[in-house]
Amino acid sequence: MTKQIRLNAFAMNCVAHQSPGLWTHPRDRTKDYNTLGYWTDLAKTLERGRFDGLFLADVLGVYDVYANSPDAALRNAAQTPANEPLMLIPAMAAVTQNLGFGVTSNLSFEPPYPFARRMSTLDHLTGGRVGWNVVTGYLDSAARGAGKDKQTAHDDRYELADEYMELVYKLWEGSWEDDAAIRDVARGIFTDPSKVHPVHHEGKNYRLNAIHLSEPSPQRTPVLYQAGTSPRGRQFAAEHAECVFMSGPSAKVIGPRVSAIRELAAEKGRNPAEILMFSMMCIVVAPTEAEAKAKYAEYRSHVSHEGALALMSGWTGVDLARRFRGYRRHAGSGTGQARPVQDGVCQGHAAGEAVRRGAREAGCDASGEPISGEERWGGVIPIPERV
Ligand SMILES: Cc1cc2nc3c(=O)[nH]c(=O)nc-3n(C[C@H](O)[C@H](O)[C@H](O)COP(=O)(O)O)c2cc1C
Repeated sequence: MTKQIRLNAFAMNCVAHQSPGLWTHPRDRTKDYNTLGYWTDLAKTLERGRFDGLFLADVLGVYDVYANSPDAALRNAAQTPANEPLMLIPAMAAVTQNLGFGVTSNLSFEPPYPFARRMSTLDHLTGGRVGWNVVTGYLDSAARGAGKDKQTAHDDRYELADEYMELVYKLWEGSWEDDAAIRDVARGIFTDPSKVHPVHHEGKNYRLNAIHLSEPSPQRTPVLYQAGTSPRGRQFAAEHAECVFMSGPSAKVIGPRVSAIRELAAEKGRNPAEILMFSMMCIVVAPTEAEAKAKYAEYRSHVSHEGALALMSGWTGVDLARRFRGYRRHAGSGTGQARPVQDGVCQGHAAGEAVRRGAREAGCDASGEPISGEERWGGVIPIPERV
């Protein structure tokens, strides 16, 4: 059987998303992220290019770990400002027929009841093309925005998420029978009340006694994405995810994570082959390899180190404005040459070099040379158009 490849584009309702500094490039359009035209053009381009979906990332806080301040994120538009992602979807759905929309929404700070209705609404409006990337957040700034001092502990966030899922499943799947909304014009009855059931839930974190406000949408439960690979994150993925989004530098790194999630899913009685695994990669396309490399080099000349450090500090929770120990692998020299870190001490600048090459994993090879081939994909891969 022919093997199918699934392609998701990766974007966020902000400037430049994961390429800090690229907003200064003359051809950059992400500065227009706050206009509908930007998103409808992107959606049409992706559909023309036969993409399966557009994956929309989101955070609910500012990247303020770097130098203990939001200034670097603000200066460099490092995922700040960040607008809300769900609102983009109806506009993009209106100009496409097949493109799917995997939207990230953090469950930590919103009750399940209104969120379930918003997703049902999106599922109606897109004709069943919506997915939800279930995240619990990683920024303390988001928790502060929600009135807490810091985030709930890592594994406890997943506990909360499990209960949240239990509740939204009940709302999406259990409240309305398929034929509840009869739309009987002759009798003047829109919904048969005997076919709509209240959801009762008394849990550790949530209480609810209500009917779901939306009638059944095409999918009821949206396609579920997940993007965590810690032991607890894998458990969650094995339980709930239909698609898992991963980032890693090579098949060697990603492979065991994929196997672990599939094994856990099988243990839970699921068919592990049903879980689609998406790995992140950044591809630069040009008519020839030389042109692709030149384009890549030109893009790199626009990278903001400070913006990269702000992002990396937020992702890891480590303030890279300080000198720190333990980053012993190859850190970029800024000249495109690999250079082992001396004395086990790495300046934040070198880590920024690693980030700018798309090497988000600490164990990455940040040699700076464009890479190709199936074994390595963590960095940017220049690919001639013929491919
Ligand atoms: C490719 C990828 C994309 C992610 N996108 C988001 C996102 O948009 N918003 C968010 O809050 N977390 C996002 N995350 C973070 C995950 O939801 C999760 O918090 C993180 O991977 C740590 O999970 P773990 O500790 O279970 O490994 C993303 C992670 C990966 C690998």
